[in-house]
Amino acid sequence: MTASNTILTDGSGRKHNYLRISLLEKCNLRCTYCMPADGIALSPKASLMTADEIFAIAQTFVENGVDKIRLTGGEPLLRKDFPEIVSRLSSLNISLSMTTNGILIDRHIEVLKQFKVNKINLSLDTLIASKFHSITLRNQFEKVIDNLHLLLNNDFQVKVNVVLIKGFNDNEIIDFVKLTQFLPISVRFIEFMPFAGNEWDRSKMVSQNEILSQVEDAFSSDEIQKLEDEKNFTARTYKIKGFQGNFGIISSITNPFCDSCNRIRLTANGKIKNCLFSNAETDLLAAFRNGESLTDLISQSIQNKKKVRAGMVTIDEMDDPAKHFDNRSMIAIGG
Ligand code: 5AD
Ligand code: SF4
Repeated sequence: MTASNTILTDGSGRKHNYLRISLLEKCNLRCTYCMPADGIALSPKASLMTADEIFAIAQTFVENGVDKIRLTGGEPLLRKDFPEIVSRLSSLNISLSMTTNGILIDRHIEVLKQFKVNKINLSLDTLIASKFHSITLRNQFEKVIDNLHLLLNNDFQVKVNVVLIKGFNDNEIIDFVKLTQFLPISVRFIEFMPFAGNEWDRSKMVSQNEILSQVEDAFSSDEIQKLEDEKNFTARTYKIKGFQGNFGIISSITNPFCDSCNRIRLTANGKIKNCLFSNAETDLLAAFRNGESLTDLISQSIQNKKKVRAGMVTIDEMDDPAKHFDNRSMIAIGG
């Protein structure tokens, strides 16, 4: 390790080489698990990072060991200067990926191809058009499905994010697994997580064990193959023998993967969060605008990172609303 990349290594020896940058807080969907019913107070435009600032701050991270950047939102493709942002970031020596709701993919596909944003996580919580409306409050199901196929036809690597909510889409788990028979996608079932205003409670969450037991009921044990976990995995992945794609489970609640966490988040208004569950934020943008050095602030934030879920070690601690009511909603953090 060079001296310069030690600032991204925390007290538990975790090296943070993966930066997730939220480009804006707005979204063209209203997913109820993400966006509070009465909306969120948007940061004033002047407090959002410009394309130049995004590049400069990202560059500091890259100089210190980040080699993977994911663009998130809100919906990152809503940013008018999206082409400029990816064009600039692509000059850094990194792998570039994006999390999107898929609605605007067709408009930006050439830019994504040109700048090699070839790993795309697409949010899609149901395979039924009417349910899509009830979770996102918009009628864009067909558009998202068309754009999923567009991505696959253009050889993008696609992961489909499915946030599971009890009584809503847990009866579609097997349909999603079956989708991987003919589509080379990775479906990732995500345990519903608590954020400000999303009315989380434990009973709405579908756990890793419940997901696996549905799969075990639908397929025989020799059809279900456990795949090797990726190095800094979030999803524990499986495959049905002979299927083109695979599926995984992101069990942040019942079986967290904090030990191998390599992620740090930069919000659209330039604050870093060392953990998705942490309320603490460090304002890099203010420091950058004042001409101050960013490395000390980054180092402090990394050193303050807790071993597990911002200190919420047990699931009982997650039940306490006081622990997460002031954690910004996902729309403002970026997934
Ligand atoms: N719980 C789990 N995942 C969430 N996401 C948003 N809100 C939540 C939540 N409450 C994820 C979705 C989306 C990504 C942007 O963030 O999977 O794909
Ligand atoms: Fe938008 Fe994604 Fe949040 Fe849905 S989950 S409202 S698509 S940012």
